[in-house]
Amino acid sequence: MQIKDYQAARKVLQSIGQEHLLAFWEELNEQQREHLLEQIRQLDIRKIPHWVRDTVKNQTPLAIPTVFEPAPSYPPTPQTPEQAEKYARARRMGEKLLAEGKVAGFVVAGGQGTRLGFDGPKGNFPISPIKKKTLFQVFGESVLAARKKYGSVLPWLIMTSPLNHQATVETFEANDYFGLGADTVFIFQQGTMPNFDFEGRIFLADKDTIAVSPDGHGGSLKALYVSGVLDELKRRGIEYLSYWQVDNPLVHLFDPLFIGLHVLDGAQMSSKALIKAHPTEKVGNFCLVNGRVTVIEYSDLPDEAAHRRRPDGSLVFELGSIAIHIISREFVERLNKDGNFALPLHRAVKKIPHIDLSGKKIEPNKPCGIKLETFIFDALPLAEKSVILQTIRSEEFAPVKNASGEDSPEVTVRMMIERAAAWLEKAGVKVPRTKDGKVDCILEIAPSFALTAEDVKAKVGQIPPLHPGDTVYLE
Ligand code: UTP
Repeated sequence: MQIKDYQAARKVLQSIGQEHLLAFWEELNEQQREHLLEQIRQLDIRKIPHWVRDTVKNQTPLAIPTVFEPAPSYPPTPQTPEQAEKYARARRMGEKLLAEGKVAGFVVAGGQGTRLGFDGPKGNFPISPIKKKTLFQVFGESVLAARKKYGSVLPWLIMTSPLNHQATVETFEANDYFGLGADTVFIFQQGTMPNFDFEGRIFLADKDTIAVSPDGHGGSLKALYVSGVLDELKRRGIEYLSYWQVDNPLVHLFDPLFIGLHVLDGAQMSSKALIKAHPTEKVGNFCLVNGRVTVIEYSDLPDEAAHRRRPDGSLVFELGSIAIHIISREFVERLNKDGNFALPLHRAVKKIPHIDLSGKKIEPNKPCGIKLETFIFDALPLAEKSVILQTIRSEEFAPVKNASGEDSPEVTVRMMIERAAAWLEKAGVKVPRTKDGKVDCILEIAPSFALTAEDVKAKVGQIPPLHPGDTVYLE
């Protein structure tokens, strides 16, 4: 938007009822004024009145489809000879694409991580059981190990937000890009959305600063395009993005079976799913709406549907979303083609630090306004074809969300040790366990040693005998 000066800004803001953003203009120096004008130019002036009316002030949740059925999925392991044949074909296909370097890893790391309460990008959180490697380091080493395994350059994309971009770049620089080479690692920023009070007025974070927050992981599909990364991927012959969240160190980040099924079935965006632990587990539910895979949030799935069971006792809506996807590059290009791509906005009532009309800083101790976000899974219904592959929780999902309790670092570390133990046992190694079955040693498997249980089998001769209480790091 062409906003040259104060007058132009005032006119535009008045037209949408947001002129209070200039309330402190007289107190600002030249530099601060330009800073504020630049942020006003970034606002989506045309859309703000719609957001205020439809989402900020409107407390009705997004319309939930009235007719929906469970989505079909592939089981973690094949159940019939035909399926076994297809899985083998898919795995070969995935391995071929990886060896040809047609896949990029894509981690979204722009979130605020408020629940964990860690100072800095969540990717800098130390998580591995013995070496205390950070999440970024675990992923960086995994990408490096995958490159070695497949003999190709698999680029790594990291989406940040203005809140943590600089700190993330500094981490990568300080760690020499985890040995991957700066020219094959793309760190780019997602967009932001202004924060509103309950009346629909945009908050000021300071006299010259609009209060904004990242536009949600759904913003990644636009940020790929806006940042120019998508074009660069095309230039480099990348066809598929393997998407994961920064909080899940167990993710199998280049899974040939998953990639292969996506491609063999002609899908545009695919997902991994878990069997839910209980009917109302706080994960999105994979459903089918008008023939399209759609995620219905746990809070939106009617209770009756959430508890409905099949004759064998399993839940009818049993598939939970864990934010692991394969996304075709062409699909993201198509979504962005007319420049007007937008996912549905979700409304979150939050504590938003701001200044009041007298300029006083307010650090609220209770929710005082609205943040708007988009979710990646809302892009699923835009795909004509979408594959769901079930995975096993203990193999692939241990997100670090909270400082303590459920989904906390303590749980994640335990699950990392348990998975390492399971991989060793699968390879025939005796792992000490207590009487009640708990792993009785501390184990850490470096990505350079193994990315999968099969990799461990090939190196079984290098594993020392394990004794109760041992601390064993395999690299
Ligand atoms: P979460 O939904 O767990 O949010 O993000 P969060 O911001 O990290 O944490 P809380 O809710 O404040 O405690 C899931 C994934 O999506 C990314 C996060 O970095 C994480 O990998 N994300 C989330 C973004 O990249 N951008 C966003 O705007 C939001």
